Amino acid sequence: MKNTEIEKQIDYINKIHNLLNGKNKKFSIYTMGCTLNENDSEKISGMATKMGYSKTENLIDADLIIFNTCCIRENAEEKLFGKLGEVKKLKESGDVVIAICGCMMQQNHIIEKIKKSYRYVDIIFGTHTLHKFPEDLYNLLSQKDKIIDVLDIDGEVYEGLPIKRESSSKALVTIMYGCNNFCTYCIVPYVRGRERNRKPEDILDEITSLAKEGYKEVTLLGQNVNSYKGNGYEGIYNFADLLRAVNKISGIEVINFISPHPKDFTDDVILAIKECKKVSRILHLPLQSGSTNVLKRMNRKYTKEQYINLANKIKSLVPDVVFSTDIIVGFPGETEEDFEDTLDVVKQIGFEQVFMFIYSKRVGTPAEKMEDQIPDKTKHERFNRLKQLVESQMQENNKKYIGTIQNILIESKSKTNDNMLTGRTKTNKVVIIEAPDDLIGKMVNVKIVSEHMWYLKGEIV
Ligand code: 5AD
Ligand code: SF4
Repeated sequence: MKNTEIEKQIDYINKIHNLLNGKNKKFSIYTMGCTLNENDSEKISGMATKMGYSKTENLIDADLIIFNTCCIRENAEEKLFGKLGEVKKLKESGDVVIAICGCMMQQNHIIEKIKKSYRYVDIIFGTHTLHKFPEDLYNLLSQKDKIIDVLDIDGEVYEGLPIKRESSSKALVTIMYGCNNFCTYCIVPYVRGRERNRKPEDILDEITSLAKEGYKEVTLLGQNVNSYKGNGYEGIYNFADLLRAVNKISGIEVINFISPHPKDFTDDVILAIKECKKVSRILHLPLQSGSTNVLKRMNRKYTKEQYINLANKIKSLVPDVVFSTDIIVGFPGETEEDFEDTLDVVKQIGFEQVFMFIYSKRVGTPAEKMEDQIPDKTKHERFNRLKQLVESQMQENNKKYIGTIQNILIESKSKTNDNMLTGRTKTNKVVIIEAPDDLIGKMVNVKIVSEHMWYLKGEIV
């Protein structure tokens, strides 16, 4: 449902369209961080396109540059400052508008730093004011005053923003915003606010339209998707109900979701995955640490044993499922024994994919103040040990694909070889195939003929 706030923003889009009329202006957007940010960037791109800007990948050609930022780890923050240094010259030599948005902009110390050291930034808007980008840009273009538009209170759930998607076969669909979990290392609850759910009818409308446009795959997004709460529309009260409803939408063939929290993985969600054949057979089950002591201090609300039992239960009910996970090494107070517990869980579960992170201190989180911060050298050494284990497991695991037939959605040309196409198995393995371009966007059966650490090679059968 559209509301008056969005209608107001659409008016601003039209006003900018009139201002730019025929001027052939271009925008560029640089997205850091997770898929939720990617989906937000698609909305910003949608708004900019409706204003009359065309998209360019080349910053030098752009009249409007938008940075959509992430603050999950320090290296994400450093990326922004590196990029801002790069565009300074463009600002000095031309009439380009520089806007920054996203999670970093919800932190006061970052805004102060930008105001002081990057004075050439024109617009700052936050995660709760994303929909106000048209108004902010119009005010800048018409008044030339710098704009800072950041709210500390949780934004509402707005529907009806224009969207320009990156892919024409797979779509990102945010189902909820924010997080209530307050894992002690994590900045997300502070910059994205408390959980707010989209209405089931709005989600289903969006996915039905996507299917009509020819999209085959959707990824349901949220910081904690399995705590989704519906309003009862068509009997949808929770995440399991939503999965069942999306599974019924004809035209959609693959359903992914990220990220669930192990504590909310109810039996009902497991049964829905079992029933819904379109749901991807790789489940992301963020472990974070394999040590019960560390998990307690992380406020993760499960023990090592509970995590393993949950994975085993899922596997026994849905035998073709495989797991991916997130792991943080070097959380404050992590002992050698704690770290070995993490290695132990990795060995026991045999993850299909592991996203590994070195703990990064985040301003304002409880873990920032914890004693026994781990020295960098130890963190790196543990990270390398984990990486070695994961890579050796991956190599072993890849072998099981050889000779199998996989039904995959062909997504695009391969980035590294123009003669090849690429897609992913239902377990998210990248497959490279030599095939004609008109198969892009289609589901095909592929026989896997060889394995290479990061991808599999296949042949159409
Ligand atoms: N340091 C390192 N990794 C982190 N993550 C979240 N916060 C931090 C942090 N402070 C990781 C978690 C989460 C993933 C998205 O990022 O593993 O699941
Ligand atoms: Fe961060 Fe934990 Fe929320 Fe995930 S569940 S966003 S790790 S606080």
